[in-house]
Amino acid sequence: MSIQKVGVLGCGLMGAGIAQTAASSGFDVLVREVSDELIQKGFNGIDKSLGKFAEKGTITSQQQAEIRGRLTGTTSLEDLADCDIVIEAIIENLEVKRDTYKQLDGICKPETIFASNTSSISITEMMTATRAERQARFIGMHFFNPVPIMKLVEVVRTILTDEQVYEEAVEFGKRLGKTPVRASDKTGFIVNRLLVPYMLDAIRALEEGVGSIVDIDNAMKLGCGYPMGPFTLGDFVGLDTTYYIAEIMFNEFREKRFAPPSLLKRMVLAGLYGRKSGRGFYDYTKDPKNPTPMSLV
Ligand code: CAA
Ligand code: NAD
Repeated sequence: MSIQKVGVLGCGLMGAGIAQTAASSGFDVLVREVSDELIQKGFNGIDKSLGKFAEKGTITSQQQAEIRGRLTGTTSLEDLADCDIVIEAIIENLEVKRDTYKQLDGICKPETIFASNTSSISITEMMTATRAERQARFIGMHFFNPVPIMKLVEVVRTILTDEQVYEEAVEFGKRLGKTPVRASDKTGFIVNRLLVPYMLDAIRALEEGVGSIVDIDNAMKLGCGYPMGPFTLGDFVGLDTTYYIAEIMFNEFREKRFAPPSLLKRMVLAGLYGRKSGRGFYDYTKDPKNPTPMSLV
């Protein structure tokens, strides 16, 4: 089977990026969100990103219009019935994902491949929400933010994944212009296994007064050549998502290095989700951005 029609679940930060990337690679893409407003919000982000590529001359204005023409939004899960692959990028919550997969399993054709973009949830645990016949066609495809720019996709197999389906997913990753790496279904796969403890350690260093937000960010940017310091990166990923990932990884490994620091939890409770909510470690409502004033004692 050759993948032609792509379904995407969720049009937030990642879903919008995945949908844009698939449409830019020539696929017809149907994106499902829970409301028309959220589809519009996601598509506005896609227009902004395509606008940047057009400005730079990476795509022509005709290509920009063609890419947009390949993208359709819907609030109905039923509309995904004839997709060849459905890539799920909804909130990092096992129960919500399992519930969605269970419904989708009854809707999609038997050949449809289910691919989760989860950062940390076990693919196997989501897979078991579907019938036995679907389970061999259930994989992880973990993209990186911002999806239209980052070149990596982790393609994740479970112990039950059909070999042909897996190779097809690797090929599909290449057709999206990404470099696929192969990973097994171990929590966090390759990148987050290494990246998440680093991001959490930076927050603990801040809590302990090792340095300020700006100094820790600059230290890792200028001292190690990272494109973003850990706090800018946390705000970029979303502190709510980072918190959910840390909770899941800590529950899996029971190791302190994966435990969400109390400052992270309190920031999420206070609604400081990072860029997407306007404030996180930095305040993005003002230009130039400055660290959000927070009492750490
Ligand atoms: N769409 C289109 N173009 C974009 C874009 C987007 N979404 N985002 C950035 N760009 C373009 C800019 O227009 C700019 O183009 P020019 O250089 O031609 O002007 C270029 O990309 C660079 O952007 P900026 O100058 O704004 O900023 P930058 O140089 O800092 O690059 C970045 C931005 C690519 C995001 C870079 O900062 C970076 O690589 N950051 C680290 C990102 C990262 O680590 N991502 C992984 C997060 S972890 C994850 O995703 C997994 C998980 O499960 C949590
Ligand atoms: P987000 O909060 O920006 O977007 C999630 C979207 O899913 C929201 O718009 C929400 O309305 C929608 N949604 C919730 N339930 C839905 C449902 N049943 N059907 C359709 N849409 C639904 O989150 P995000 O950062 O895009 O993360 C999405 C997934 O991608 C998570 O599993 C996350 O772990 C993973 N991920 C995130 C990043 C990152 O840097 N943020 C990177 C890689 C992977």
